[in-house]
Amino acid sequence: MSPLPENTIELFQLPGVSLLCDEPLAKHTTMGVGGAARFFLTIDEPPALEAAIAKLNRCGLPWMILGGGSNTIFGDGGWPGVMVALGKGFRKIERIPGKNRISAGAAAQLSAVMNFAKREGLAGLEWAAGVPGQLGGALAGNAGTPAGEICASLEAADVIDRNGIRKTFRHDEIQHGYRFSSLRDWIIVGATLELTPDSPDEIQKRIDAALAKRMEQPVGQRTSGCMFKNPPGNAAGRLIDQTGLKGLRIGGARVSEQHANFMINDGTATASDIEKLIAQVRETVEARHGIRLELEIKLIKP
Ligand code: EPU
Repeated sequence: MSPLPENTIELFQLPGVSLLCDEPLAKHTTMGVGGAARFFLTIDEPPALEAAIAKLNRCGLPWMILGGGSNTIFGDGGWPGVMVALGKGFRKIERIPGKNRISAGAAAQLSAVMNFAKREGLAGLEWAAGVPGQLGGALAGNAGTPAGEICASLEAADVIDRNGIRKTFRHDEIQHGYRFSSLRDWIIVGATLELTPDSPDEIQKRIDAALAKRMEQPVGQRTSGCMFKNPPGNAAGRLIDQTGLKGLRIGGARVSEQHANFMINDGTATASDIEKLIAQVRETVEARHGIRLELEIKLIKP
């Protein structure tokens, strides 16, 4: 018989695992909106992962993994089950001796992986300068910019399924495209990236160029980055801008005046404000251009 949720706290008393109750998800997403998770589990040690998954499957509550929270928005109702984050034991970044390869844990910040690669004289991740989020989330959605994308550097990915079975996929076993990767169906534990030798100075120049491009975007504010995918042959930001929607505000949420594919929480927005703004932008763009914008961010409303 599955234990009652009230027993969840005892159930997760495992070494390397910590549990919080009623944890606001707004704290764990860059947009900063959304309700609370009934339980918030942080797994700090890789060996604890399988045991924690076995218990998650027995606790009778829905569970999901959250990465850096830069592409995820939760509804105001929060999450009725267990939200799982990978902690410090999943942030290691290492050079594979004698190779142009780096292995990193899924919870490593993408920018930390890029900076480590630069110090090692390994190029290929400069596009990621200023891109928020963790490696695992980046791989699940094949994060990228027109200058590059993460799956292009992927040598192998270590994953685990919802039954706790581990597997390593080689790069040729992973399907990926624009903001899509077959890894999204797995829990990503870590990955090996194949990079190209170059001088740290040259790498830094490309990082600076990517950061300059990033300054055209509303950095340092509560956003989820680009909200919509670019439709084939077009740019969501341009379409929204041409529709005259910059600055459109609902409650505490507005379309950025700086880059129209960003929405900003002024600190008082609810998830419902963001959802209404998404709906209004989509409807207005569709009425004007006949193009239905597809969300790039994940909106989670169980
Ligand atoms: N544009 C406008 N008005 C705007 C914004 C953009 O007219 O308000 C026009 C630009 O002038 C340009 C075109 O739209 O002609 C494309 O804009 P931009 O170069 O800013 O790039 P993007 O396609 O909007 C993509 C990624 C960004 C990434 C930049 C880096 C997507 C959905 N977005 O944006 O990624 O930072 O390139 O160049 O692929 C993210 O995924 O969260 C993200 C921010």
